[in-house]
Amino acid sequence: MSGLGYTRADFPSDFLFGVATSAYQIEGHAQGGAGRTHWDDFAATPGNVVRAETGARACDHLNRWEEDLDLIRDAGLDIYRFSSSWARVLPEGRGTANAAGLDFYDRLVDGMLARGLKPALTLYHWELPSPLNDLGGWRNRDIAGWFADYTEILCSRIGDRIWSAAPINEPWCVGWLSHFIGAHAPGLRDIRATARAMHHVGLAHGRAIEVMRGLGMGNLGAVCNFEYALPRTQSAEDMAATRRYDGIYNRWFLGAMFKGVYPEDVLEGLAAHMPDHWQQDMPTICQKLDWLGLNYYTCKRIASAQGPWPSLSEHIGDLPQTQMGWEICPEGLHHFLTFAQDYTDGLPLYVTENGMANPDSPDLPDQARISYLNQHLAAALRAIDEGVPLKGYIIWSLLDNFEWALGYEKRFGLVHVDFNSLQRRPKASYHALREALAQT
Ligand code: FCB
Repeated sequence: MSGLGYTRADFPSDFLFGVATSAYQIEGHAQGGAGRTHWDDFAATPGNVVRAETGARACDHLNRWEEDLDLIRDAGLDIYRFSSSWARVLPEGRGTANAAGLDFYDRLVDGMLARGLKPALTLYHWELPSPLNDLGGWRNRDIAGWFADYTEILCSRIGDRIWSAAPINEPWCVGWLSHFIGAHAPGLRDIRATARAMHHVGLAHGRAIEVMRGLGMGNLGAVCNFEYALPRTQSAEDMAATRRYDGIYNRWFLGAMFKGVYPEDVLEGLAAHMPDHWQQDMPTICQKLDWLGLNYYTCKRIASAQGPWPSLSEHIGDLPQTQMGWEICPEGLHHFLTFAQDYTDGLPLYVTENGMANPDSPDLPDQARISYLNQHLAAALRAIDEGVPLKGYIIWSLLDNFEWALGYEKRFGLVHVDFNSLQRRPKASYHALREALAQT
């Protein structure tokens, strides 16, 4: 008996299921010739990362990838969404490639194909090589060219076997979370840096898409994260603040990538800080795409606040929370699957990340995660029934892993990892998923 409320048979026959991971979070970045990243620098600065943990060893996926791919195959999944590390391919960010790094991704992709898995590549899941950060990182317009070169080097090697590719995971996190809120590397709190990063990340996306098209690759998309913004009260001020939050988080990148324009209500705050002649870059950012991936976890309650733009404060409401302190709000997933169509105009949508952290051990029932997945699958099915072209659902994450500023404490995996022995042990949610996927 499956613990999930749904089986494969409840979804359209071509609907795909997958799991996601990312390079720095699982590989073991101190090994195999990878270069230093801005996450190593950020973590070495006191107070930034819980217990100053890093991805140096992580899940040791670099050496255990075959076992990990077996776990994905054995669950009956279709897609493996993985990422390549820029600093593993190019330790200095530019110049000489690390042959061992290219060999690793080459073997990994072949390993997926040998197991019948579709390789879904993300080219940047946040491990910026430190030498590029020294040059200004995402603040420097040249990053678009550096990123295009990296894309060319990696995809010339593995692009022929990739099922789908997206340049950058969660542009909002790269831009806003890392340069305005300062919670992720490089940990800045600077609106001018933010405006530049928010623009250059789109430019890098566009340049990478051009490169991949030039190499003959298809099925290219974007992976953005979305947070359901709800007003804390119904006051006009809180409603307006919610709209600003929604613009920054949910509409900036969609507007640029799919319509070639930034939302006016966000430009109100950022225009004064944008790089010169940014308007000329919009056609490059707005490339033809084949799909949109939505990463969705939670909602946020927004209130207006004193102080400079965007003059808002963020709050947590009364819904049950995950180990992250994130409210469980499946309604938001349905909202964005519907809302995104204003931008994507009939293109296939994928949920490219969804899941929850729980302080679980492999011996616990794992009911909270099963229930979280159930509720979000229900929201996805509701959208499909209403005609939304949702083509797949990818769970974050295969393994417990390095959860960025929160270190190894927050466990998102379907598979438990003991970070001492590195033993993998499937949780009840993994078994429930396997049973559900076997029922066609
Ligand atoms: C997303 C990230 C992913 C992971 C999950 C919990 O924002 O893409 O790496 O940290 O959140």
